[in-house]
Amino acid sequence: MDNWTEGYVAEIDYAQAYYAEMAPAHLSFALLLNGLRPPVEAGAGFAYAELGCGQGLTSNLLASLHPGSRFEAMDFLPSHIAGARRLAAECGSLNAHFSDDSFAEFASHDGADFDIIALHGVWSWVSAENRRALVQILRRRLKPGGVVYVSYNCLPGWAAHMPIRQLLRQHVETSSAPMEERIGNALRFVHGLAEMDSGYFAQVPSAAAHLNGLDGKSDSYIAHEYLNRDWAPFYHADVARDLAAAKLTYGASATLFDNDDAWSLDAAAQARLKATDDLTLRETLRDTLSYRRFRRDIFVKGPQRLPAAEREALLRATRIGLCVAAGEVPHTVKSPCGERPVPVELIDALAQGPQTLDHLAQGDDFAETLRAVVMLVGEGLAVPLPGGDAAERCPGAQRFNAVVLRRNRYSPDIRQLASPVLGGGVIVGLVERLFLLARLDGADPVVFAWSVLAERGKRLRRGGEELVSAEDNLAELGRLYGAFESGRLPLLQGLGIA
Ligand SMILES: C[S@@+](CC[C@H](N)C(=O)[O-])C[C@H]1O[C@@H](n2cnc3c(N)ncnc32)[C@H](O)[C@@H]1O
Repeated sequence: MDNWTEGYVAEIDYAQAYYAEMAPAHLSFALLLNGLRPPVEAGAGFAYAELGCGQGLTSNLLASLHPGSRFEAMDFLPSHIAGARRLAAECGSLNAHFSDDSFAEFASHDGADFDIIALHGVWSWVSAENRRALVQILRRRLKPGGVVYVSYNCLPGWAAHMPIRQLLRQHVETSSAPMEERIGNALRFVHGLAEMDSGYFAQVPSAAAHLNGLDGKSDSYIAHEYLNRDWAPFYHADVARDLAAAKLTYGASATLFDNDDAWSLDAAAQARLKATDDLTLRETLRDTLSYRRFRRDIFVKGPQRLPAAEREALLRATRIGLCVAAGEVPHTVKSPCGERPVPVELIDALAQGPQTLDHLAQGDDFAETLRAVVMLVGEGLAVPLPGGDAAERCPGAQRFNAVVLRRNRYSPDIRQLASPVLGGGVIVGLVERLFLLARLDGADPVVFAWSVLAERGKRLRRGGEELVSAEDNLAELGRLYGAFESGRLPLLQGLGIA
């Protein structure tokens, strides 16, 4: 039945998630790396919109950390917006506004302009008509100099696996059972076809691997990723052409490694790219030669190229912070072209707390230091910090974290807590979150964590074996708490989370 959902899967809410690439400081860093002026000056307030925000966790978390900025997020599923509003109200975030407008409704009314508009996981999952409404919003509501973050499934990386989505979608449509049941049946059906190993599955061996990759995925992910009526991967050139109607020009990828050919391509491929002057064709070649299937593009309304010296000065002033303990940083990082060493001195310096790139580069070649920092950020081990003072971000972060930790008493859905030091979200494991909640409430962390896990019918595992008795689980939690106290807790305290 087609109604206001326009063929979008409305039966299951989307997962709660925070995306670090959508943080203003990350977008600015990516643009600076590509020599472009960021949309807002470091430390200044800004207006941020999120279109198709799902459960709104990214906007809520960022709003708690940027009290001087305005966040407006929308999504047409009312259950998403009811949850997002409740979280904002509980956190006391007066700067976060959520509406259950559709894209067409949002496009039809005026309002204040934005410095940044973000759409994550939206462009490939809606109809051409809705993409036109999105372009209209970008055209009317983005300030000159403002940026758009838009992620989408891309070609040619998706080409070989599109039939899997088609088969799942068609099979789900043959039944009116509850969505969870239909998803299970559809997966079994397509697995059965793969096992026959003929036709498509014989000709495209990676198709079975793609299908197997869905096995551990949640129903929510499969529903929203694969089962909407409208779904399409795009060439970058198509997206760039559509967004040109909103006066937007491609600026950089928020997936930092995608900007760096030396990271992802061999020498012959790099030479081929250098010989290609057309910037849009160059992106298509990048996607072809590295066989990407997902892009996180940053488009700019009126990009301003920075003089080289100003770019370097702004980069040198950027502060970088580790989001993991120094001991958790690996010695090498795997790139598509081989292992890259992580400089020990860099990690030693960052272990003392966030540092400016200028400080990190002292005595070293700046370009080398920058490359190593990009590697850490690209791997999710470090983040660029927003300007301004961590102390200003503390009250909002503390309220956000207390609310999220209390929710963990009943539901483990939100995994990220807000770090006022980093100005972004940090993933904290379930058991760690229960330990933190117990400490907040003055309870015994081990006894409390076990009471919650036992209530949910959960058991811990050790050496691959499930621990059955309460005594064994309590003993294991005691061991985990000891490790937490000496390992992760000091890190979380340093990040202003605990
Ligand atoms: C794949 S989800 C991504 C959600 C979120 N951005 C994230 O990545 O966590 C796409 C979102 O777009 C919303 N959406 C789809 N069509 C829409 C429309 N016509 N108007 C407003 N929101 C829409 C859905 O409700 C859904 O939450």
